[in-house]
Amino acid sequence: MNTATVLDFAAHTPVQNKAIPVRHLAFNFDASQADDKFYLRAELATAYFEALSIFLTYGEDLVIDTARHHRQFLTDPLLKQRVTALIGQEAIHSKMHNEWNDVLAQHRFPVPLFRFLGSKVFEYGFNRFPQPLKLSMMAGIEHFTAVLAEFMMKHEDNFFETSDAQQRALWMWHMLEESEHKDIAYDVYQTLSANYPLRVVGFVIALITITVLVPFAATLIPVIRKPSNVLSLSYWKDVKRSAALIFGREDGVYGSSLSHIFDYLRRDFHPNDHDTSEWLAYYKQRLLDPKTGLLAPYFVREFTPGLQA
Ligand SMILES: [Fe+2]
Ligand SMILES: [Fe+2]
Repeated sequence: MNTATVLDFAAHTPVQNKAIPVRHLAFNFDASQADDKFYLRAELATAYFEALSIFLTYGEDLVIDTARHHRQFLTDPLLKQRVTALIGQEAIHSKMHNEWNDVLAQHRFPVPLFRFLGSKVFEYGFNRFPQPLKLSMMAGIEHFTAVLAEFMMKHEDNFFETSDAQQRALWMWHMLEESEHKDIAYDVYQTLSANYPLRVVGFVIALITITVLVPFAATLIPVIRKPSNVLSLSYWKDVKRSAALIFGREDGVYGSSLSHIFDYLRRDFHPNDHDTSEWLAYYKQRLLDPKTGLLAPYFVREFTPGLQA
């Protein structure tokens, strides 16, 4: 890492001096309650979240392995603590989403096929990449989950057109924590590498995965689940509306977030340049309040890993 980069980075990095917790939840998903039009009553847009739920577990496992490998090279005790908490949060995300994916599998979803494809792509591809590239991918993946989390936190109502409370709680909890830990992978990358061209490569791999591969997989879901959809005019109207809900410039998850997405390419970018602290404070209250929080029925316990020398 050259000196200029270190100084540049230091000048732009807001101080993060908070240890973050790891929360355990138990959703006890009920297959009979699973809503196939969970996201704004749109079938294909909902399928995007379902495909994402399956593939993101592999991305999270990559984040966990990569964070574990690089934690040993960090000297700042607080950053080490935050990496340990990141690993804990992602491990529980992966576990909870796998439980949810098992429920989806009961609804004629192509979960075994997607798990097969996901495991092969990671086993023979991504997981074999050199560690510096995996570190860059980890930062890239976490950038996209931060973009998704910010959009979802700012569009809370999008989660409330369904009566599927467990699916809603799963995504809202996940988005809260993605926003809570959005700067950790980036800080590790800048501390241990800070190589800009390599950061761009990790970004491009994450971009293609999230905006091409996952949407392609999502298009298979409604057709496999219900082949007659291909001949249904109302389904093709849904396709048009769903595409706008994910990619539309006006209110699409990614389409309306393009400036945030590509801001990552700025040389002096930092995740906290996009200040979500007030949203985070609001959602902590909304979700975690012991009496009124949306997560109260599913909350088991939380712990905060200690500082490590
Ligand atoms: Fe996650
Ligand atoms: Fe994450």
